[in-house]
Amino acid sequence: MTRLSAITPSGHAHLGNHLGAIRRWANQGRPGDLYFVSDLHAMTVSYNPARLRVLSRELLAVLVAAGIEPDQVFVQSDLVRELGALSWILECACSYGEAARMTQFKQKSGTGEPVGTVRLGLLTYPVLMAADILLQGAAEVPVGDDQSQHVELARTLARRFNQTYGEVFTVPTAVMPPTAARVRDLVDPSRKMSKSTQDSVGVVFILDTADLIHRKIKRAVTDSVERMEYRPTEQPGLANLLEILSACTDVAPADLATQYPTYGALKSATAEAVVEELRPIREGAQSLLADPAELDRIRKAGAHRATERGAHRLSSALRLAGVA
Ligand code: TYM
Repeated sequence: MTRLSAITPSGHAHLGNHLGAIRRWANQGRPGDLYFVSDLHAMTVSYNPARLRVLSRELLAVLVAAGIEPDQVFVQSDLVRELGALSWILECACSYGEAARMTQFKQKSGTGEPVGTVRLGLLTYPVLMAADILLQGAAEVPVGDDQSQHVELARTLARRFNQTYGEVFTVPTAVMPPTAARVRDLVDPSRKMSKSTQDSVGVVFILDTADLIHRKIKRAVTDSVERMEYRPTEQPGLANLLEILSACTDVAPADLATQYPTYGALKSATAEAVVEELRPIREGAQSLLADPAELDRIRKAGAHRATERGAHRLSSALRLAGVA
């Protein structure tokens, strides 16, 4: 049963990506699973091509340094022809209403730009994500809760295609992590930690130095109530720190709340735990980035494997759809 997931290089990968996604991919990976850098997804909003290239490379290095087997990774745009073809087939099985209902589309298209100028790719990218999943025949898709609606769309499209034209696609299921499903911004815990946040003081990046991590966590907002209790709704800032520490230590957030008498003590412990959690990845990624030939080799082999693997599904889908 294949698992597949991805991360978009729309910015540097952060602690939320690590705790909510990458770490689990590395720990629970089984032979045949696939994890990739979804660089095509980074094009749905204004972006800088040279920076995208750098971020994609960095992310590939982070995935491998985090412990994902090098033979389980690839970069999405290396399959651009296959994915382009399958996306079109799936777009023609998806209604406008289904795409426009996606929460992320509504959020990102409602950020001030007149809706007429929003990139069409922002509307259709969940269909590209469905193509990512269905091309590889993935049965399980580990994602944070922000992506589960997109996996739901992939399920719908797989079923619809299979029923209308013939059985080709595995119907995927989203699998969620038990804790740290949503790591929040340290400065504004009402929103999730995000790669594209303008002001990065509330975001711990995987490649941040130990010193920077300490400073960011020290500045995390807490709450005016000095009550060390795990109450996510009433004290979201404190709950976020407890959840982060919990994800790093495997102790329940409510138990941690009783162990730390002050915010200061909790913040130091959290910063220390995060630094130790991220250290091997930072070091591993830096040494891979210093060895471009090795990174190129991993990328090329990944592209070859993923293309081969999806080829028969794509040709069946095209044939059943009455084309090619
Ligand atoms: P992306 O890059 O936004 O996020 C990558 C993964 O990180 C998780 N995540 C978080 N988890 C906890 N706390 C946070 N603050 C946080 N922020 C992000 C996300 O849930 C996700 O698991 N469209 C996808 C990538 C994608 C994909 C796919 C995923 C492309 N094709 C096919 C699965 C299958 C995305 O932009 O993820």
